[in-house]
Amino acid sequence: MKRPYESPTISRHQGGITNKFGVGVSNRFQSEIEGFPISKLLQEYGTPLFVYSEKTLKKTYREMLDAFSLRYPKTRHAWSYKTNYLKAVCRSFHRLGSWAEVVSGMEYEMARANGVDPRFIVFNGPYKPYPVLKRALEDGAIVNLDSLDEYFEAEEIASQLRHPVKIGLRLNMSLGTHMSWDRYGFNIESGEALAAVKRILAGRKIRIEGIHAHIGTFVYDVQNYSTAITKLAEFATALKRDFGISLKYIDIGGGFASRNRLRGTYLSTADMIPSFDTYAEAICKPLLDGLTSVFHPEELPTLILESGRRMVDEAGMLISTVSSTKRMNSGTRGLVIDAGVNLLFTSFWYDHDVLPTSDHGYSNEDHVIFGPLCMQIDVIRPTVHLPHLEKGDSVIIKPAGAYNNTQWMQFINLRPNVVMISENGKVGLIRRAEDVAYLQERETIPEWLNG
Ligand SMILES: Cc1ncc(COP(=O)(O)O)c(C=O)c1O
Repeated sequence: MKRPYESPTISRHQGGITNKFGVGVSNRFQSEIEGFPISKLLQEYGTPLFVYSEKTLKKTYREMLDAFSLRYPKTRHAWSYKTNYLKAVCRSFHRLGSWAEVVSGMEYEMARANGVDPRFIVFNGPYKPYPVLKRALEDGAIVNLDSLDEYFEAEEIASQLRHPVKIGLRLNMSLGTHMSWDRYGFNIESGEALAAVKRILAGRKIRIEGIHAHIGTFVYDVQNYSTAITKLAEFATALKRDFGISLKYIDIGGGFASRNRLRGTYLSTADMIPSFDTYAEAICKPLLDGLTSVFHPEELPTLILESGRRMVDEAGMLISTVSSTKRMNSGTRGLVIDAGVNLLFTSFWYDHDVLPTSDHGYSNEDHVIFGPLCMQIDVIRPTVHLPHLEKGDSVIIKPAGAYNNTQWMQFINLRPNVVMISENGKVGLIRRAEDVAYLQERETIPEWLNG
């Protein structure tokens, strides 16, 4: 067979010495996950392949809960469905004790189907169609209202049900340190939030049970959390003092950064990402300080956390195989792999770690990694230092557990198998690879196109 032409370039490789930045040349690779050879996983389940580690997921959950409940014992975690709604992932969290956090009718039904008691489903988001809102309120879910329009509908639902319904209010606030998210909920500083409370009390059909704020995502400056929780505690205190409302929960949302590398950041991720203890200290201390002047210890509200990406990112990995290599005009070497932005949506904003799955020595050079789509934007890593991989070699891309298995798409290619490795070393298929029949199952041909 005639081999494809690849124009020659000369690049010097030296192993075992430091480069001009003083950094040792490394030979990084990962050939197994939880003791399972990656080559075997690929043989059995095909390529590309998503792999989840139950062990990592549980360890992360325990670290989070230990850090928070040590400082504020009444802490609960609500699993953010949008981050990953694979059943096996959701159920793993629920089995550990997580409630559910949903932002749509679809996610609400998923949580119900996963067996979550509606009283432990937190329903957020700016769009709750009337029937969906009605079902959630009737079920007794924890519904955090986003706007007055939603409130008026909730009031109408309470009239129909002939009993008061309970709600929470989503709040937003100025954080001082970065551009605050103000598109969700009611603003504290402008007086909008307090005005909403007064209107709700005057209506007498709705009981306010909690307040909620989700200040952003991948927030690694913990000062933002201290500011937010201080303002929420002040608000809760004012509700109790001025209106006799004793809140049942304060929900600080999600947003903790995962150990991934945001594009454009200078320092390495490990140096920047706060530990759970650091987040917990930033949140729990101001919360207790703020509440204990008016709340007795036994009536302190539950602190709800909705951390998504930090809880699952590291537990998920994507394995992909090189389908071709090329030499770009710039001299950089290019790899085309079988997983692109269709599967790894987060590669638009992260520089994921990409490692060969076998030892290829120390001779690294700069590469660009392309996905398989016939689209210019399908780039997994614009530059990454890798050894000389060839067609058929595979790489592991991580962390990949957050937002990819919800935002992925069957664009040009179908979605592959997803497996989970259990804590005691079993591999289970948790989502079967799609086929064309699955994709077209819902399509119909109008009668004029038949025949
Ligand atoms: C209301 C709410 N809660 C929780 C989350 C989870 O956020 P993260 O994955 O950043 O922790 C989100 C994500 O956008 C959200 O909108």
